[in-house]
Amino acid sequence: MLETKELTIRFGGHVAVNAVSCTFAPGTLTAIVGPNGAGKTTYFNLISGQLKASAGQVFLQGRELSGLSPSARTRVGLGRAFQLTNLFPHLSVLENVRLAVQAAQSGAHLRGLNLWSIWSDHHGLTTRALQILETVSMLDKQQLPVASLPHGDQRKLEVALLMALDPAVFMFDEPTAGMSADEAPVILNLIRALKKDKTKTILLVEHKMDVVRELADRIIVLHNGTLVADGDPATVIASPVVQEAYLGVNPKDVYAQAVAPPHVNLPAQGGTSKTR
Ligand SMILES: Nc1ncnc2c1ncn2[C@@H]1O[C@H](COP(=O)(O)OP(=O)(O)OP(=O)(O)O)[C@@H](O)[C@H]1O
Ligand SMILES: [Mg+2]
Repeated sequence: MLETKELTIRFGGHVAVNAVSCTFAPGTLTAIVGPNGAGKTTYFNLISGQLKASAGQVFLQGRELSGLSPSARTRVGLGRAFQLTNLFPHLSVLENVRLAVQAAQSGAHLRGLNLWSIWSDHHGLTTRALQILETVSMLDKQQLPVASLPHGDQRKLEVALLMALDPAVFMFDEPTAGMSADEAPVILNLIRALKKDKTKTILLVEHKMDVVRELADRIIVLHNGTLVADGDPATVIASPVVQEAYLGVNPKDVYAQAVAPPHVNLPAQGGTSKTR
């Protein structure tokens, strides 16, 4: 179980993520939606440790992660897509994925200077790396240097590296953004396969509502950094807050009608409710 408690970050006077409390169960896919600038990526960055929270906590399986670095969080099972800038751009696609598989299995290669053991480890790592490349339809690109890949392939490689780590929690932030029509289904199929696994906790930030509708077991909505809706897809999609954000419907009082969990204090329409 992944949990955030009152997770908050302020940039100067701007509260980009505002006391977001939420739990994410294994075997479920939660879509995180909301307009541009709502705080979705920032929320991910707080969970993965790329940003330090101003307040609040993150727990994974009951263990508090708040003080841990991003790499320490990765080691305990939080999977955030790699930044390709952290890779070895002049090494091949296969070599990079093999290194990620090796990182995930660290220790196996430290059994000592036994040539048979080293060969068999290397062989096993290559086999696993090739399996992963097959799942993202990149076997034909395995020998290319990472630096030479077009954008869509780079995004697929990010997902391949995440697969190599085999984390308990998969965090996808607009995983098909910038992909061509024939590349996006590869990633969506992969997320479908992860869902079938039934053990993974999957968080998906996604603007395409057809994708959300198909994949999500649950939807949460962020708006101005605040969690304003949380529930099953049909209910949340029908809610005014989502209708307004995505379909251009403009109900008079979006917030008051939002499907909201009881603990969320919805902001009053038109500013504060204080009278002067
Ligand atoms: N490092 C930062 N410094 C200052 N402000 C930031 C920083 N990171 C994010 N913000 C601000 O926080 C708010 C939330 O941004 P965020 O990128 O999380 O939105 P988002 O929901 O992911 O949007 P999008 O759908 O466009 O990706 C924005 O107002 C953004 O300008
Ligand atoms: Mg974003």
